[in-house]
Amino acid sequence: MAGRFRKFIDKFSFNKEKILVTGGLGYIGSHTVVELIQSGFEVIIVDNLSNSNIDVIKGIEKITDIKPKFENIDCSDYVAMDKFLSKNEGIQAIIHFAALKAVGDSVKRPLPYYRNNIGSMIALLELMQTHKIPNLVFSSSCTVYGQADKMPVNENTPIKLAQSPYGNTKQICEEIITDALTANSTLKGILLRYFNPIGAHPSAYIGENPNGVPENLVPYIVQTAAGIREKLSVFGNDYNTPDGTCIRDYINVVDLAQAHIAALKRLIDGKVESIEVFNLGTGEGTSVLELINKFEQATGVKVPYEMAPRRAGDIEAIWADPQRANKILKWKTEVSLEDTLLSAWNWQRYTMDKENSAKRHFNFLSMS
Ligand code: NAD
Ligand code: UFG
Repeated sequence: MAGRFRKFIDKFSFNKEKILVTGGLGYIGSHTVVELIQSGFEVIIVDNLSNSNIDVIKGIEKITDIKPKFENIDCSDYVAMDKFLSKNEGIQAIIHFAALKAVGDSVKRPLPYYRNNIGSMIALLELMQTHKIPNLVFSSSCTVYGQADKMPVNENTPIKLAQSPYGNTKQICEEIITDALTANSTLKGILLRYFNPIGAHPSAYIGENPNGVPENLVPYIVQTAAGIREKLSVFGNDYNTPDGTCIRDYINVVDLAQAHIAALKRLIDGKVESIEVFNLGTGEGTSVLELINKFEQATGVKVPYEMAPRRAGDIEAIWADPQRANKILKWKTEVSLEDTLLSAWNWQRYTMDKENSAKRHFNFLSMS
């Protein structure tokens, strides 16, 4: 009864703040949508499904009891977005996740990255002015620091040359946002520089499920552990790190999603003068080999791997100083690396169970 009553209240309360989430069916976007709904926001998702699947909505609904509104639009398409926003007035903020994100792929195919990531950003900033949407939360990345000289990096660490076209798109987007917000005092924004988000929702109803062969380390590890991929390639063991492999700051995706709620509330409460920037990480660095070992310890499942050449575009080592986010957003990471890796594994197993039962159902139907 309590659940039904909540659903009724959620559906029919008219004073909820309306938030547009671009890329909301993607990995970080879907986890953030869940947190937004659970924090009482009304969510509208725009996603072109270039790296996600419509079924993600079912996962969100299973967790929250609410099916968010969704439109399949490319947000670099100014005309389509303009039309969409005209039909959806009163949006308080945009959380802009929609982007291509694979570092190595961006070195091989730079132009789609520039067109998609920068095109979407410019279109959205122009449309925020036209449609009077005052607040923006932008998914930036620690790749904006390039290879920093000193670890950990804080928000004042100098921005060096980007190591990949992808990293460059994030640097350029940050600059475009800064210029646009400086020129227009009605617009406010928060740039969130994520370190490496991993893991899945504890329910296992949503997680990281990229289309095609995974480019990121943890999805590749779980698919290899599950036998979908034969072997993981470890890209480079001759870096200047204790075990020769790259170091990253791996952060739980639900913890990361919760930081968006803190950032959004800060914007909506009028606490941001123009633009603010926060590192979102744990403060701990972990190498590729250490991560494989931790996965094996947490799950009891072996991950076959081999050493491979370095991947172009990779930074050797980076981890965060998250103190500014800890203090100002009153946010910090909670979930351990082991529990996070276990959640990624649970999500993989749930996905495979779902696929197997769909196959069994199909076979049964075709036999009968
Ligand atoms: P993702 O690929 O899972 O999600 C991105 C979503 O955006 C996908 O659903 C995709 O279909 C959609 N999309 C892409 N281009 C679009 C467009 N033009 N119009 C509409 N939809 C579009 O990626 P993610 O890991 O959830 O990353 C989200 C954001 O966070 C990205 O901006 C990424 O650059 C940034 N980021 C990610 C990481 C990471 O390690 N995952 C780290 C730092 C920053
Ligand atoms: N790696 C492997 N084998 C793989 C995949 C990755 O060894 O099959 C290594 C990479 O070389 C790197 C580390 O694992 O050293 C992490 O690689 P990911 O691709 O998982 O993550 P990146 O740090 O390259 O990039 C990710 C996102 C970016 C984001 C960045 C922030 O893809 O969007 O984290 O740090 F900006």
